[in-house]
Amino acid sequence: MNLKIQITLIFAFLSCFVACEKANRDLANTTVESDPHSFSRPHEVALKHLDLDMTVDFTVRQISGKASLTIENKAAANQLVLDSRDLRIERVTLDDSQAQTTFSLGEPQPYLGQPLTIDISPETRVVQVYYSTSPDAAALQWLTPEQTFGKKQPFLFTQSQAILARTWIPCQDSPSVRMTYSAKVKTDPSLLAVMSAENPTQKSFDGIYTFNLSQPIPSYLMALAVGDLEFRAIGARSGVYTDPSLVEKAAWELADTERMMAATERLYGPYRWGRYDIIILPPSFPFGGMENPRLTFATPTILAGDRSLVSLVAHELAHSWSGNLVTNATWNDFWLNEGFTTYLENRIMEEAYGKEYAEMLAAISFQDWQTELENLGADSAASHLRWNLAGRDPDEAMNDIAYDKGAYFLRLLESAFGREKWDAFLRGYFDKFAFQTMTTDRFVDYLRRELIKGDQALEAKLKIAAWIDGPGVPANVVRVQSAAFKKVEAQLQDWIGGKPATNFDTTNWTTHHWLHFLRNLPDSLDHKKMIELDAAFGFNKAGNSEILFEWLLQSIKNRYEPASPALEQFLLGMGRRKFLEPLYEELAKSPEGLQRAMSIYKKARTTYHPVSVNTIDRTLNWPN
Ligand code: BES
Ligand code: ZN
Repeated sequence: MNLKIQITLIFAFLSCFVACEKANRDLANTTVESDPHSFSRPHEVALKHLDLDMTVDFTVRQISGKASLTIENKAAANQLVLDSRDLRIERVTLDDSQAQTTFSLGEPQPYLGQPLTIDISPETRVVQVYYSTSPDAAALQWLTPEQTFGKKQPFLFTQSQAILARTWIPCQDSPSVRMTYSAKVKTDPSLLAVMSAENPTQKSFDGIYTFNLSQPIPSYLMALAVGDLEFRAIGARSGVYTDPSLVEKAAWELADTERMMAATERLYGPYRWGRYDIIILPPSFPFGGMENPRLTFATPTILAGDRSLVSLVAHELAHSWSGNLVTNATWNDFWLNEGFTTYLENRIMEEAYGKEYAEMLAAISFQDWQTELENLGADSAASHLRWNLAGRDPDEAMNDIAYDKGAYFLRLLESAFGREKWDAFLRGYFDKFAFQTMTTDRFVDYLRRELIKGDQALEAKLKIAAWIDGPGVPANVVRVQSAAFKKVEAQLQDWIGGKPATNFDTTNWTTHHWLHFLRNLPDSLDHKKMIELDAAFGFNKAGNSEILFEWLLQSIKNRYEPASPALEQFLLGMGRRKFLEPLYEELAKSPEGLQRAMSIYKKARTTYHPVSVNTIDRTLNWPN
């Protein structure tokens, strides 16, 4: 054979091989997506059940123990690859015989950690990993007693989303893998441990707790909290866990939880997780809420004293359908979790509290979207619904687009098909894809099959591609008019025109009226105007964290010095990233502000969760 023919043949063989491989992969992708943020290979070996046996030791700030992974080896593979980050792996054993096997840890990579490759045989069913966590594991925050409300006992909580589960559990840390789990946790008998599972309601005499979750979940929903916790029932299937000193207040604030559950079930079908409890965490919790199954984790800043911030419960509860039941396959499809949930949140709020309130919330969401677009730049690819986060830390790349643009996309679909058809579609979607993962493409295919049905005019009207893979605000957005906010704006105009602030008619203003007011103040206000507002409404002493946050942001923008003590107290007292980041960012815009930010952050940094530290380090260029 001459060389030319040889090369042609080799080439033909190779391209056929590549094509076949691709076809295989496409087929495989219908069940397991390839995930740029996981080393695992679930299409070969899939994790089915996780059994944890852990000791939580506050003295050394370490979780140690054994993770037993029941696997399904679909490809007769000889290796199991797990995600790990900052874990110390002691040994790995296989099956009932507990025969020790060999393993290796790959090179550590920023935010992804290290692949843990374990030698198995095609017959291996259970892999036991003996391991311990690092004191600065990114998912874990270990609190001193001073950082809790009771000030007597230490506290630990986890935050696994997006890719931090691997810092406390060796696992296939991809949202496309689902497993059931059980756990045994040993800790100090003066503390109660709770997880995203069936939970105890009382401390045990020996500090040992057992858990079980029979519904399969992805690793980002693995969660644990340990502390001086008390439980109080709210309704038949809901209750609250928190510091004993707060439990009364929390139960009052969250009293509408059952009502929201009933509203969601009316709209989207049965709640499939048994109980729905909420734990109110210490102030350093870096998020507003986290939808851990059966047990939402929440910031204490929702305890406003007037039930005005409970849309957060509607949001986390809604994740029991959008996200926890039908789950984004990779973090590129994050909008399928958060956009759906923000839409559901609004529907639940409308169902439970009426249209006027829901419209106010939707108007605020629209403004959040605009603000995010200003931050990102109007034609940034980060303003598309579908992302390409390969090569980037998902926890850093996430923004409000998925939430607000996502919700407005579904609002458009609702208005195009009408509520009756659209609601039935969503109910069917949650039912059909329950306990499965979803990609943007598969959702759009399903939408076309079920609702668009080849109608070309409708297809043209919806502009799906502009929403999913385009920037900015698509032209066919359905805007929301809030009559209540129009009235706020009119009064604001009068004030700008010279009417005194004391003339405002704020009777019946809710938190959201105030938020709209503060967010729409003119770009710059002089000292006199700021003093006037502060004197009329006492913003510096606002007990509601959302209102205080908006005020403090305005105070930094307008260099209003009398707000400085309140600002410092706020930044030192609380770890919610949504509040911290914009405040530090605004401070950093001027040299004096940056100096203040650095001096406050120096004191605050050790009290923040690693998730917030990671973000604020970047905001302030903190020297590491
Ligand atoms: N799942 C998110 C929180 C999250 C997102 C954690 C991405 C890590 C990575 C949760 O449901 C959420 O959206 N929380 C919001 C509150 C909500 C009312 C918008 C928050 O924490 O601000
Ligand atoms: Zn959410």
